Amino acid sequence: MFDNFLTLEEVDVNGKRVFVRVDYNVPIDEHGAIVDDTRIRETIPTINYLIDRDAKIILASHMGRPKGERKPEYSLYPVAKRLERLLGFPVKFAPDCVGKDVESMVSQLKEGEVLLLENLRFHKEEESNDPEFAKQLASLADIYVIDAFGTCHRKHASMYGIKDYIQPVVMGFLLERELKFFEKALLNPQRPVVAFIGGSKVSSKLGVLKHLIDRVDKIFIGGAMAFTFIKALGYPVGSSLVEDDMINEALDIIEQSKRLGVKIYLPIDFVCGQAVSEQTPVIEVPWQEIPEGWMGLDIGHVSSSFIKEILKDAQTIVWNGPMGVFELEKFKRGTFELAHAIAESAALSIAGGGDTDYAIHKAGVADDISYISTGGGAFLELLEGKMLPCLEAITKKE
Ligand code: 3PG
Repeated sequence: MFDNFLTLEEVDVNGKRVFVRVDYNVPIDEHGAIVDDTRIRETIPTINYLIDRDAKIILASHMGRPKGERKPEYSLYPVAKRLERLLGFPVKFAPDCVGKDVESMVSQLKEGEVLLLENLRFHKEEESNDPEFAKQLASLADIYVIDAFGTCHRKHASMYGIKDYIQPVVMGFLLERELKFFEKALLNPQRPVVAFIGGSKVSSKLGVLKHLIDRVDKIFIGGAMAFTFIKALGYPVGSSLVEDDMINEALDIIEQSKRLGVKIYLPIDFVCGQAVSEQTPVIEVPWQEIPEGWMGLDIGHVSSSFIKEILKDAQTIVWNGPMGVFELEKFKRGTFELAHAIAESAALSIAGGGDTDYAIHKAGVADDISYISTGGGAFLELLEGKMLPCLEAITKKE
């Protein structure tokens, strides 16, 4: 499906000014320190490739949602410093992403040098996909590389509008890898395909469930989402989170799965508390027996063993969304055990989404998952079967 997209290796970058749109929207703590640099690390192969070919490398990204204002807490300066450390190579930093000073810094770039521009979203024109802004960005380079998979669902100037002012627009290595694994997992998978979909709301995963239902063989629904399904089946859920307006949608999904012969699994037992808190007392009960005043906050031990059974014949695994409130010590076990079960499986495994990615790293199994997507919203939209608009911007092969 993506075979006709022009790739970085197919263009001559030698000595050229190459603009690489990356997604360095990384989590930063209250002291301004980068909490997780995965998105920076994952762009290193593209940058090193360009350095080795004496390109003049201009990197640009957004960070956070400063809404067109220059807010120091959203500066990419700390990212430039981290990138410098990861590359083991100096990284210049421009105080803006367009304008005379930036043009002059770009014109002084020597072959093999790297320049990171300041946050694109300090200009409201980025998000409004302003043609003049796109044109200014395009004027900085000869070749445009999109490597910001995590932003491919945003029709912004640097991701989409740019294509009208510069050609070629090619895929970087990170984007290429993301699409290759997505293709392997969902477009052309080895079967059986087992999907684990968690998180708190059916409403935010409805598109994913509807799209996956005729593409996978088994779906395990975990997280608070499961309670809307359990209530739809007529069982009590205590004070667990439920979306009453999604009950009919849940029933539709169950009906559809029966028609298609896709197996839907819900957790068999739950760890319940009386509040979302570390201080709450805890009980573990079968799924039909959640008492009044208690809410399910994690899947139970039996469910975790059951997951291992479900995974026994899996050839492909897709995972998005936690099984419980894994941020709390008392309710993290189910999500972490799922991470371990997937890591131990020999199947091709693909996981994505901010919480899922974080849980996998916290569980210490990142190296045993075949692919962890760097995308949050973009990964979800692919799972929903949407064509990411920015892929339209990539130059197609003749
Ligand atoms: C993300 O983190 O999902 C991307 O960087 C996109 O960020 P956004 O949701 O602020 O557009």
